[in-house]
Amino acid sequence: MAIQVHIETYGCQMNEYDSELVKSILVNRGFALTDSFGRSDVVLINTCAIREKAHQKIYGRLQQLKRERALRSSRLTIGILGCMAQNLKQDLVDGHDEVDFVAGPDSYRHLPELIDAARGDGEPSAALGAAALKLSTTETYTGVDPIRSGGVNAWIAVMRGCDNMCTFCVVPFTRGRERSRDAAGVVAEVEALVRDGYRQVTLLGQNVNSYRHGNVRFADLMQIVGDVPGVERVRFTSPHPKDFPADLIRAIAEHPKLCKHIHLPLQAGNDRVLDLMRRTYTHAEFRALAAEMRDRVPDVSITTDVIVGFPTETAEEFEDTRRLMEDVRFDAAFIFKYSERKGTYAQRKLPDDVPAAEKTRRIVELVDLQKRITGEINHALVGSTADVLVEEAVERQPGFVSGRTDNFKHTILPGDGIEIGDIVPVRIESARGATLCASPIEATAGASSNYINQKDSP
Ligand code: SAH
Ligand code: SF4
Ligand code: F3S
Repeated sequence: MAIQVHIETYGCQMNEYDSELVKSILVNRGFALTDSFGRSDVVLINTCAIREKAHQKIYGRLQQLKRERALRSSRLTIGILGCMAQNLKQDLVDGHDEVDFVAGPDSYRHLPELIDAARGDGEPSAALGAAALKLSTTETYTGVDPIRSGGVNAWIAVMRGCDNMCTFCVVPFTRGRERSRDAAGVVAEVEALVRDGYRQVTLLGQNVNSYRHGNVRFADLMQIVGDVPGVERVRFTSPHPKDFPADLIRAIAEHPKLCKHIHLPLQAGNDRVLDLMRRTYTHAEFRALAAEMRDRVPDVSITTDVIVGFPTETAEEFEDTRRLMEDVRFDAAFIFKYSERKGTYAQRKLPDDVPAAEKTRRIVELVDLQKRITGEINHALVGSTADVLVEEAVERQPGFVSGRTDNFKHTILPGDGIEIGDIVPVRIESARGATLCASPIEATAGASSNYINQKDSP
């Protein structure tokens, strides 16, 4: 009987996509996939290394697996994939006897041999161990057809790796150098996705707008993908502000299939800190870019990432970040406390000197500020109309479905007669924090009354 493999995925969308590649590689070599941990012979954990919390989560899961493995009568092989595997390498195996092997993000084609060797069915060798952690300058998994789990959105990695070397970030160490896939391959994948019923594709890369293959740059690729017949929505994440040309903004403004949402990671609003982070833009340049986006792309939503408590960041410098967020008014923001990562410039050269309590004070302040701004922006949308691509039923609210507007606002609406994957014109009735409550336009009167009874729900 085929060996049963169970995969758990942590971290960003790129890891979600990579797990889909891993499934394909394994199934093509005769392994079977199972959702059930209990029935599995092999558990693969695709991990993230971006902050210490991500590591801690995996350590917690490993403890659990160790206990569960001890209770089993049958054999269980445990492999750690992804960024934490690449980051900690053999230390992860040496320090955790429940871990049988590690495999970094560029070595997934070796997984069948790695699993066989760990199960004692193949040859364990030093060469195989080395291959499992080798970063590649060329691997883009061409020819591997991801096994996706369905839904309305499909991820497509169009480039991998990052050459930016922001001083806080572990990704260049876990994902290696930048490389892009050829556009024809991406288009073929998108055409197949349309045939399979996907309505939205999200182009992924650690530094996605640095995409370049031959003469095709990222703005070209976005339009080529948007032109594929049957694609309704094209999204992308994450771009770097240093590399956001006018033609990309124009493409987003003009192409009807390119979504009017830009995730534009800020990280900090003070020039000394930005310089120390090696972000290569000033706060004024960032503000100008965001203003240009708002000016050129009607209804655009801009979201961001911010780090508080970067080494040596003073309270006054933090105020610059707060002020920038007040001025730019992001639609949403992911705010993180600085977390020192092994091997980065910041870890080697800078003191992690902002006290934990001060990091907490700063994050709480920004989270509160952003909640207020998100609430204000979303309240201002009440009474306006939008098209929602419906993604799923709302578990906690039977009879309702949820999805996203073109500009990425999470929206719930009554699900009567609506199928997952429909694009529904709606009127926004109310805003509850980050979520919009809407009614299909054809049924405004009846549907809007649904919300009167919903006031108590969070
Ligand atoms: N390539 C993406 C970043 C992916 S990581 C980009 O450049 O936008 C997602 C976010 O995690 C980053 O934008 C940053 O805000 C945060 N992050 C990265 N390293 C971090 C660290 N060492 N401590 C805290 N947050 C970090
Ligand atoms: Fe990390 Fe910077 Fe690359 Fe983003 S651009 S992945 S933050 S090094
Ligand atoms: Fe985490 Fe690796 Fe993604 S570190 S955020 S899984 S690129």
